[in-house]
Amino acid sequence: MKHLLSMADAKDEVFEILSIAEDLKSGKIGGKPLEDKYLGMIFEKSSTRTRVSFEVGINQLGGTGLYLSSKDLQLNRGEPISDTARVLSRFLDCIMLRSKSHETAQQLAKYSSVPVISGLTDKEHPCQAFADLLTIKEYKGSFDDLKLVFVGDGNNVCNSLLLACAYVGMDMTVACPEGYEPDKQIYELAVKEAKETDSTITVEHDLDKAVEGADILYTDVWVSMGDEDELEERQCVFKQYQINQELLDKANKDAIVMHCLPAIRGQEITDDVMTSDASAIWDEAENRLHAQKAILYKILVE
Ligand code: CP
Ligand code: NVA
Repeated sequence: MKHLLSMADAKDEVFEILSIAEDLKSGKIGGKPLEDKYLGMIFEKSSTRTRVSFEVGINQLGGTGLYLSSKDLQLNRGEPISDTARVLSRFLDCIMLRSKSHETAQQLAKYSSVPVISGLTDKEHPCQAFADLLTIKEYKGSFDDLKLVFVGDGNNVCNSLLLACAYVGMDMTVACPEGYEPDKQIYELAVKEAKETDSTITVEHDLDKAVEGADILYTDVWVSMGDEDELEERQCVFKQYQINQELLDKANKDAIVMHCLPAIRGQEITDDVMTSDASAIWDEAENRLHAQKAILYKILVE
């Protein structure tokens, strides 16, 4: 794996990265393995978790992180992403990019001679999926015989989770309104990969049916960054796609609740569920740090 733009880029390294994350979290891997390494972090969109966890993570590993708002870079004045990639590659050892369009991330990777990690695009969020897998493993012990139900929009977070589940052999059902299914190409790839790991990937528009036998209920905002123009329409279409106590009661007895955050209480999730004993959300957020350190370690040390 040179770049990590899609979960598919890490197909053969998923378990290894998870194991590194566990070792970093437990302290089994210590020291400053990224001493003298510089990570540039370009943000075209807002971020709390991705920004802070990457910055803290690279520092804990002995390296240096540089926050680069796209508004302050010459990108904002029209410098091509290809030139930006060529030049930043001369200064940095790795570039993390949160971009409005997946194509921008692909262009950056194409012209960069150093590894590029996606910190979210409109299409995928692989770093989030790694933190999610780590969290599920911690709560459930393994990925065997588990069913994850993603409730809501078939968005970037959902797309990466589809591939993540397929690679580790976990069943996943996307419960979404018609017209809001995940990316067709990613879905088809996940269905194909799931066959290799004896798991199933499905889309179900009937929420009650979807939630039957669920071990993990996962949701994300109805309106992602970049979809703000569709706010009113989405608030209508997604109304019933909410993780609340009533829905949780229909899942398996020991089901956990996950959310990548930020959350909008009263829309895709209720406050009581977020703060209930079933919520794995805060550990999931912390695991962004451990998962990303593992990704950096895998890419820059190994
Ligand atoms: N989940 C996530 O990526 O959060 P931020 O947008 O705060 O980085
Ligand atoms: N789907 C959300 C995820 C935020 C971390 C978005 O793209 O805005």
